[in-house]
Amino acid sequence: MSNRKTVDISKEEIQEQKEYIDNIKELIKGRSLKYHIITYGCQMNIHDSEKLAGMLNSMGYTETSDQAEADLILFNTCCVRENAEHRVYGNVGALYLNKQQNPNLIIGICGCMMQQRDVSDYITKKFPFVDLIFGTHNLHRFPKLLLEAMDSRQTVVEVLDEEGRIVENVPIIRNLGVTAWTTIMYGCDNFCSYCIVPYVRGRERSRQPSDILDEINQLAEEGYKEVTLLGQNVNSYGKDFNEPYYFSNLLRYIDRVDGIERIRFMTSHPKDLSKDLILAMAESEKVCEHLHLPIQSGSNRILKQMNRGYSRENYLELVNEIRHQIPNIAITTDIIVGFPGETEEDFADTLDMVEKVRYDSAFTFIYSQRTGTPAAKMSKQIDENIKKERLQKLMDVQGKISKEINDKAHDTIVDVLVEGLSKKRDDMYTGRTPQNKLVNFAADHNTIGNIVKVKITQPKTWTLEGIMI
Ligand code: 5AD
Ligand code: SF4
Repeated sequence: MSNRKTVDISKEEIQEQKEYIDNIKELIKGRSLKYHIITYGCQMNIHDSEKLAGMLNSMGYTETSDQAEADLILFNTCCVRENAEHRVYGNVGALYLNKQQNPNLIIGICGCMMQQRDVSDYITKKFPFVDLIFGTHNLHRFPKLLLEAMDSRQTVVEVLDEEGRIVENVPIIRNLGVTAWTTIMYGCDNFCSYCIVPYVRGRERSRQPSDILDEINQLAEEGYKEVTLLGQNVNSYGKDFNEPYYFSNLLRYIDRVDGIERIRFMTSHPKDLSKDLILAMAESEKVCEHLHLPIQSGSNRILKQMNRGYSRENYLELVNEIRHQIPNIAITTDIIVGFPGETEEDFADTLDMVEKVRYDSAFTFIYSQRTGTPAAKMSKQIDENIKKERLQKLMDVQGKISKEINDKAHDTIVDVLVEGLSKKRDDMYTGRTPQNKLVNFAADHNTIGNIVKVKITQPKTWTLEGIMI
């Protein structure tokens, strides 16, 4: 298979990681220490937290959902929008008293926010009681850094500017027993003008197909039925290899893994979604009929300013082609309102696209100015009240469409992969259709992990309710 241009982590370093894990294990033996991880942001971050949890479990820590009884509190941060950053500052600040009461408490902060030098500097100054700070590129060094933090009175800080290495074989503790995430590529090369991700997650690096397939075979052996392939832009998977390799090829291989019944992926950039990928999705047995295809704006002028690389016409053509090949597909999206210079006319174009495409659902965001991105320096930043009004209008339009689409499911019979008890209703079980719709229904515990047939009796805006048949 193809070679990656980036260098693999050395065997010595993997060995070193194991040794640090063993050292800590020895150090904390018999003390029943507990950890609590607070995760902000996207699936990538949630998956990184699964790796942190995996390393901590190997060290002998156990998880607690109660922050008050934790001996180690880790914040895995996101910097895509400003409000998540403010929440981190508030929550870290609130731990000052805990640290006074329990000087042995270790507080760590990692993730995307820490990759911004000014933010990590601010944290070390403003919250000197924080023990450990590290970024996104050195997650695998966590055991070493934790050991240092246990020994040091000062904040241990390691934030690397350079990415480049893909670390395999980090222990992972996955929370869900039925569906699993696996990262297929790291970083992003797109530099959409509003987005901080390329600056904090680095350039695109794809994992080797063989490593991904090994992991998915392993997941199937462990009983997982569904796998979600993660990357900021999975459609450019393999472009960094010396020899061409495409995401569609990878999907075709994963489709053949025995035991895996459903394959999902996210996120797809419209400019890189190839005809062959649509074909691979249509032909495959296991790839779910769902595509998350962020449009961000419906205005050609704004799309250009955003550096998205497609027009509303290109996008509509793509949607038509996908629906032609996969008639049952559910399409979801991300939309930003209030990008600098967005006029009422531009916003009307966004609403118009939402009406034309008729998304099953949409994640809608207020534009957030991110220092270091080109859009942050653009003139005509939009007033916060106007942004809020536009968001509300957009959510109303999308809510109406989502409800209309879900209403059509009334009395239909859908295939649901049962994930477990509903988080909101303890008399209900929950699972998803291939179209990624959440369905709640009464069932037995032994249905978990199976695909069952459910008749939809009560469609709602964001979920469906039904009866198992
Ligand atoms: N402001 C608001 N939303 C943003 N996103 C990315 N950057 C910003 C920003 N600066 C949104 C995009 C992306 C999603 C993950 O977050 O819609 O697809
Ligand atoms: Fe950000 Fe654009 Fe990359 Fe998505 S594709 S992570 S929005 S730069």
